[in-house]
Amino acid sequence: MKLKIIAAILLFASWSCVNKKTAIVESSSKLGNDLVIEQKVDSVLKLMTIDEKIGQLNQLTGNGEVTGPVSFANEYQEAIRRGEVGSMLNVNGASYTYKVQKIAVEESRLGIPLIFGYDVIHGYKTIFPIPLGDAASWDLESIEKSARIAAIEASAAGQHWTFAPMVDIARDPRWGRVMEGAGEDPYYGSQVAIARVKGFQGNSLADPNTIVACAKHFVAYGAAMGGRDYNTVDISDRTLHEVYLPPFKAAVDAGVGTFMSSFNELNGIPVTGNKGMVKEILKEKWHFNGFIVSDWGSIREMLVHGIATNEYESAELAMNAGIDMDMEGHIYINQLKKLLADGKITEKQIDDAVRRILRIKFMLGLFDDPYRYCDTAREKELLLNPRHLEIAREVSRKSMVLLKNNNVLPFSKNVKSIAVIGPLADNQDDIIGTWSARGEGKDAISVLTGIKQKVPTARINYAKGCEITDESKVGFAKAIAAAKNADVVLVVVGEAAMMSGEALSRAFLDLPGVQKDLVLEINKLNKPMVVVLMNGHPLTIEWMDKSVPAILEAWLPGTMGGPAVADILFGDYNPSGKLPITFPRNVGQIPLFYYHKNTGRPRVEAERYTSKYIDSPNTPLYPFGYGLSYTTFEYSNFNISANEIGMKDTLKVWVDITNTGKYDGEEVVQLYIRDLDGSVTRPVKELKAFKKVFIKSGEKVKTEFTLTANDLAFYTRTMEFKAEPGDFKVFVGGNSHDLQELSFRLK
Ligand code: GLC
Repeated sequence: MKLKIIAAILLFASWSCVNKKTAIVESSSKLGNDLVIEQKVDSVLKLMTIDEKIGQLNQLTGNGEVTGPVSFANEYQEAIRRGEVGSMLNVNGASYTYKVQKIAVEESRLGIPLIFGYDVIHGYKTIFPIPLGDAASWDLESIEKSARIAAIEASAAGQHWTFAPMVDIARDPRWGRVMEGAGEDPYYGSQVAIARVKGFQGNSLADPNTIVACAKHFVAYGAAMGGRDYNTVDISDRTLHEVYLPPFKAAVDAGVGTFMSSFNELNGIPVTGNKGMVKEILKEKWHFNGFIVSDWGSIREMLVHGIATNEYESAELAMNAGIDMDMEGHIYINQLKKLLADGKITEKQIDDAVRRILRIKFMLGLFDDPYRYCDTAREKELLLNPRHLEIAREVSRKSMVLLKNNNVLPFSKNVKSIAVIGPLADNQDDIIGTWSARGEGKDAISVLTGIKQKVPTARINYAKGCEITDESKVGFAKAIAAAKNADVVLVVVGEAAMMSGEALSRAFLDLPGVQKDLVLEINKLNKPMVVVLMNGHPLTIEWMDKSVPAILEAWLPGTMGGPAVADILFGDYNPSGKLPITFPRNVGQIPLFYYHKNTGRPRVEAERYTSKYIDSPNTPLYPFGYGLSYTTFEYSNFNISANEIGMKDTLKVWVDITNTGKYDGEEVVQLYIRDLDGSVTRPVKELKAFKKVFIKSGEKVKTEFTLTANDLAFYTRTMEFKAEPGDFKVFVGGNSHDLQELSFRLK
């Protein structure tokens, strides 16, 4: 192939005179330190015309998966032949990507391979729980594993790059994309970001079963006013640094290869044109050496935001901000050459963007073998592989959170009859959620099927009862009859897949349609009953908590959601999930999160002039970190190694947890701190560590944590990130509300 020869010649030539450059940039990320790759990048860059360089910054969309001849518009094929395309998204399948790649590699002048990107958010063909559910497991190994399997399947289907993990902190449950991240906490969100980047990227991007990850959406997209997607973001610099930036920095430190800029403006400047965020923080301060792609059309949208009057200005803003690739905007390809000629941008800027993109392509091995991800036999063997489905079932089980259980669960496997009711009971399409890539409902196993497989001899009375969203109650009678005529009752309700995700924010968080009425009618029968929730948003279900004896949060649990629900309901798995996001009692309380300030007038029940509502409690329905088990855990011997530590000291924290129930189970032991007197006000609690521990019934486990001054650091009044001397509290417990506390002083 011609490119290989050219690169080899240049590499050999340059190698003889290489002056053993020091590592490109000592960076906190792992990219850009491989001298051989850097020499290869330089050798290719030297061959490129300005048009070919600009072509690398241009990403176009395909049209999904086709098995026939390349079907997308001929104009794209011609653009690829002219070297005007560096990447395609939404081109799926080993066969289709091979056909498209072949045009680039064998029909363009230099044959630079394309990089194929796709939204592999929670699985490719085998679909895992939505990321918010996956995060509810608090099992970082499990979270990494689901990303790993997603990468194995995606890479077998021709994908090089996933637009994941989405690491946006979300404190507003109305926001549709709350389903796509890891919830409200910056510390936990950072840990999950690391796990997901490691899962997708594996040990080396050179491995053909790894794909390059993409930390998105940089930055503060989840802070959209009113939880309304794409809405304005206006937050303090301190909140930006303390809450929204940390997961992105964690992703850089984990070696993430790419970033994606967000649609939103940040304090008046759209991030896609925000030099202070992209160039100065991400690239210069954090030394990020991968590349950043705009979100879909977000360069063009600066016109709509109103800070550019034409495409020329939009392109200038984005390039000067440091955006390397234009996703489906057709702006860079049309404007950069003019901007260069007018001196508005430099060829050095363009070269830097190209260098970053070529670096990733070399790291992926695409120059060595551009077709290495186009193996149809591997694709056939790996997609929906039985082992992957088994892992998906394990991950799904771990994601579920037991919210209430008045001795109803687990059901006995000897149950004679069970009523299975609700619009999500015999549902395969919604349970895989949105952003489900090439996943298909037909491959999913519903709860009804999962129950039948679990208790094949039980009589199962199924009745849908109602639809997810419409108002008809015509199915109620049959559902009530089914419940009357059964020993135990299972009701599966929640949201349709298309009620959470991008552009799917909700102003109300009730169960949609008449599902609430259905649950209340069935509940009147006073049978042993459990409600299984399937949803992408936290829901306002205080009425359910007050009336129904058992509630299991199953999120949108993926391809194996049905068997996973059955495993829990019949005791083959003891639920261990914990909420990564607060469940409010009502929408009026929002924003409501555990990491809140004390104010000068914290709520006091009897006192009028304190911070409260006259028509609602301040407390959430279920707090951050909450989740029950079939067993119970007792915390004892909570102790710390000192009551005073210096800045260079370590504080040890111990606590014993005893499994005081009759089931073996797992507990997520959480450690929080509070800084009682900072130079700025500090939250009443901050999660700083957690451990998920398995404890056999009747046994006791000692857990140990260590705290250093760095764990106590924050952005001070002068925005320095450091700890300040003073009094602190340390808390341990099984959620952010029920905690034991001790005090210590930092000198
Ligand atoms: C979308 C999303 C982004 C996704 C991209 C490509 O608009 O905001 O998360 O990766 O476009 O599909």
